[in-house]
Amino acid sequence: MTGPQASTLPLPRYLLPDNHQVSQGRLSIGGCDLLELAESFGTPLFVYDEEHLRSRCREAVDAFGAGVAYAAKAFLCVAMARLVHSEGMCLDVSTGGELHVALAAGVPGDRLVLHGNNKSMGELRRAMEAGVGRIVVDSFDELDRLDALHAETGARPRVLLRFTPGVEAHTHTYLLTGTDDSKFGFTVSTGAAAAAMDRARSSDSVEVAGVHCHIGSQVFEASSFARAAAVIAAAAEPFGVDEISIGGGLGVPYADGESAPTIAQWGEAVLGAFGAAGVTARVMAEPGRAIAASAAVTLYTVGTVKTIEGVRTYVAVDGGMSDNPRPVLYGSGYEAFLPRAVDSQRDRVVTVVGKHCESGDTLVRDAAVPSDIAVGDILATPVTGAYGHSMGSNYNKILRPAVVFAAGGEARVVVRRETYDDLLACELP
Ligand code: LLP
Repeated sequence: MTGPQASTLPLPRYLLPDNHQVSQGRLSIGGCDLLELAESFGTPLFVYDEEHLRSRCREAVDAFGAGVAYAAKAFLCVAMARLVHSEGMCLDVSTGGELHVALAAGVPGDRLVLHGNNKSMGELRRAMEAGVGRIVVDSFDELDRLDALHAETGARPRVLLRFTPGVEAHTHTYLLTGTDDSKFGFTVSTGAAAAAMDRARSSDSVEVAGVHCHIGSQVFEASSFARAAAVIAAAAEPFGVDEISIGGGLGVPYADGESAPTIAQWGEAVLGAFGAAGVTARVMAEPGRAIAASAAVTLYTVGTVKTIEGVRTYVAVDGGMSDNPRPVLYGSGYEAFLPRAVDSQRDRVVTVVGKHCESGDTLVRDAAVPSDIAVGDILATPVTGAYGHSMGSNYNKILRPAVVFAAGGEARVVVRRETYDDLLACELP
């Protein structure tokens, strides 16, 4: 996943949100000048191109129909839940916390899909009270819990059973979920999937709507999805289900030289593969990253530039692994650029680091940047709209950044920056 970053060329524009503009070398997103946003709202700052998010949602609905779900784990806040819902997508929530935010945003329960490999009784009960559209059942223990809840409440939720197809997609090991050796779902090859289906179909506790599968995340090759589709189609065939979901997982380019299928191309490949396997059930999907990742950039302020002759230059910014843990967790490659000079050559290679108290706190290992980068500059990393804010932390008691949605020249803060008092909110005397 680490991309080559040796080029001295300006940042390739295809890594920027759709609605960007460059005027006299300065970058705007959604009609808002990034340096002015940094000045008004402070840094670090997540800036989302709202229309970019909307157009990706529409592309997903066009490709799969109105049952397609946005995987909220990629990036969730009340404004995002409302945006996704208003564009006609369902929301996939994978915990009680994500469910809570989606409901607080006013998303109707029947537009929600509940995931999770270890859902608690509390999470299942809350989901059933909210009337969630689908529960994706992940284990026999969960079927036991649904039996207990049925005995208690009489409710009979519509469920999909998560099948694990034994397919290895080409991605980081931590992001693989479809291989036999997985904590997720009912394994097809061992017969567990068929046994779960037999049990669920003969149970009064659930109404089986279909089958679900998710092979992993940041997957670039449509052929990986096609292989999973073939296995799932064959495994589901004896049961005559109404609905099959291929899950999420479509990759996005993060660095110069990377490319990925569009949502429309992905949809064609997935629907084509199920069609070729003779599936007539409704085919669903739940993209997260492909909706949100390239919609946003993160703005930081450069605080120190340390050159060690013959070794490297460290450029330290005012965030780090607490707002983007992906480089540390997965070795993910990113680009960096200066919004004041988007068209400048990037002929200096530096290492962009954060302000956390550990050496591993790297954002971009070999970042090409303009040679006049200096303390006080606003530095940006593109493609940070997915799994950045959502995986953020308060490590070192660093405050979580604000999130801004920009559209039509207006910027609105949808998540405010944390304050030091927020750090004490859960402390008891
Ligand atoms: N559906 C299920 C059941 C999932 O587990 C996931 C992601 C998705 C859909 C959405 O996948 P996407 O379209 O976003 O690839 N933290 C990692 C990614 C973990 C993905 C977990 N599951 C990262 O930063 O790369």
